[in-house]
Amino acid sequence: MCGIVGFIGTEQAAPILLDGLQRLEYRGYDSAGIAVLSGERELQVKKSKGRLKVLSDIINGGKSVEGTIGIGHTRWATHGEPNDINAHPHLSGNGKIAVVHNGIIENYVELRDFLRSKGYEFRSETDTEVVTQLIAYYYEECGSCLEAVFRVLRRIEGAYALGILCADEPEHFIAARKDAPLLIGYGEGCNFIASDVTAIIKHTRDVSYMEDGEVAVVSKDGVEFYNSLEQPITKEHHTIDWDVSAAEKGGYAHFMLKEIMEQPEAIRKTAFSRIKDNRVFFEDLKIDADYISSINKIYIVACGSSYHVGVVGKYNLERMLRKPVEVCLASEFRYCDPLVDPRSLVIVISQSGETLDTMAALREAKALGAHILSIVNVVGSSIARESDDVLYTWAGPEIAVATTKAYSTQLVLLNMLGLYFGDILGTVSQEEYACIMNELLRLPAKMEQMLENTEDIKHFASNYFNHDSVFFIGRNLDYAMGLEGSLKLKEISYIHSEAYASGELKHGTISLIEDGTLVVALGTYSALFDKAMSNVVEVQARGADVLAVTTESHAAEMRKTVGNVIAVPNTHTIFQPSLGVVPLQLFAYYVALLRGCDIDKPRNLAKSVTVE
Ligand code: F6R
Repeated sequence: MCGIVGFIGTEQAAPILLDGLQRLEYRGYDSAGIAVLSGERELQVKKSKGRLKVLSDIINGGKSVEGTIGIGHTRWATHGEPNDINAHPHLSGNGKIAVVHNGIIENYVELRDFLRSKGYEFRSETDTEVVTQLIAYYYEECGSCLEAVFRVLRRIEGAYALGILCADEPEHFIAARKDAPLLIGYGEGCNFIASDVTAIIKHTRDVSYMEDGEVAVVSKDGVEFYNSLEQPITKEHHTIDWDVSAAEKGGYAHFMLKEIMEQPEAIRKTAFSRIKDNRVFFEDLKIDADYISSINKIYIVACGSSYHVGVVGKYNLERMLRKPVEVCLASEFRYCDPLVDPRSLVIVISQSGETLDTMAALREAKALGAHILSIVNVVGSSIARESDDVLYTWAGPEIAVATTKAYSTQLVLLNMLGLYFGDILGTVSQEEYACIMNELLRLPAKMEQMLENTEDIKHFASNYFNHDSVFFIGRNLDYAMGLEGSLKLKEISYIHSEAYASGELKHGTISLIEDGTLVVALGTYSALFDKAMSNVVEVQARGADVLAVTTESHAAEMRKTVGNVIAVPNTHTIFQPSLGVVPLQLFAYYVALLRGCDIDKPRNLAKSVTVE
């Protein structure tokens, strides 16, 4: 989704802004722009539809734009189509104010009418231009950009991260945040703002996260902060501890492939740091045994792939804890008047920690008194900060829009949480505990073994890449895994794909199976392998071309019926989806590669979904 970067210092700003925007490209965008204030106090706005390269070529990599203070933006269209005019930054009619904005201003129509009544004219269809003109309006009245911003923030409703430049105030720019991520980066003789630390990590690891309602005045030698009451405040500094190379491709053709390959290491980091003497150990968890015993229901709330982790979690947690677990789409949860109370544990899962629907669901559950435990990848993100407890997945930065290593680490962490709770509740026997622990310790190595040989998967991808419709079928954990396999395929290859609980096929969907329809049959859940086989035979009888995924111990049996079989190592049932999903990720990747798709930045998608 939209990205923001801002810089003030002694170096030329435009190349730094372009570089920062390039590092935000992975978030998904359709146009890009920068505004730089020249020595003559003129705001130079350069923007263009399409890839950042187009903009960069127009301004010679930024060299042709002079000035040492500027703001930049990559836009993912919400109000108005993607074009040069709607691209950010927006410039006020008098040329004094330039603004970049992430989020949505909900009352922009009313504000635009107000400004029109005052004689203001609008060039774009965006809500952001309304904010820009409103700042200009108040600036005319009071002569201080900060005061004008305060007045505007009192009037606007909705979500925003804002970067604001004023032509008359070359010594600083202003940033403000509500319900959209924004952070400050501290450099030597320079400072930054960014919607995502990736944009500035090359320059600094010393950051402060802005909270809702806060405003920052960013100058070259310092940053002043104000809270929502417009009072000066001081902010804590945080150090980013991951490396720049973690956000670079490192020789791989795509981030997605790199991130698939990083999964064993990401699992080691996430899981092994929380094991002591063969026991799961959550150092910072605030909830204690009494609270865990008192939980009457667990809700898992998330979107997309993180939701799919929750679907696996429902099966595994109910099995381990014998407590009801409901998995909810965050976008539905917030509007369904949920039956959450103080004895509900709400587990929120999010890679980015910024997904707006998930954030809103979290707040709803919190207001109802639930304890919020989040599983998040991005340290210091909004969801992490608003949760009662946070367990970080140590997957490192995930750049490809399609998640892989974050999914895998979320899955492992959720299972570990189940094991930890199950031990406290006495619902997991010590024998079972030891068996799960043993398999957890072997999981990364088993994954590595699978990733060493991807030839079979490439071969199957070359057989099937030109299909236009695919069904993933499976039962129980295989169904949960199929949801993720299907999403991976459709989002990056644009092939229509659906995941079905196999038993449901005969209630309608089987009518879509005809000669040559590709069915990916998942049979890794041992307890229901025979039933999975029956469903394979059922679809084959209707002409389906079946690609099966099963465990090594069931592969021979599967091969009696299906020609194309992928075998994954056996592990404990709760971890089987962690291994089973790997060939599905790779299959999606190689199919998309053969179809010539933009794998890391699929059309219409964004990495961090900060709008509703
Ligand atoms: C799919 C994918 C998305 C995200 C979803 C939630 O590959 O990445 O479906 O899982 O947008 O995002 P987070 O986990 O950041 O809340």
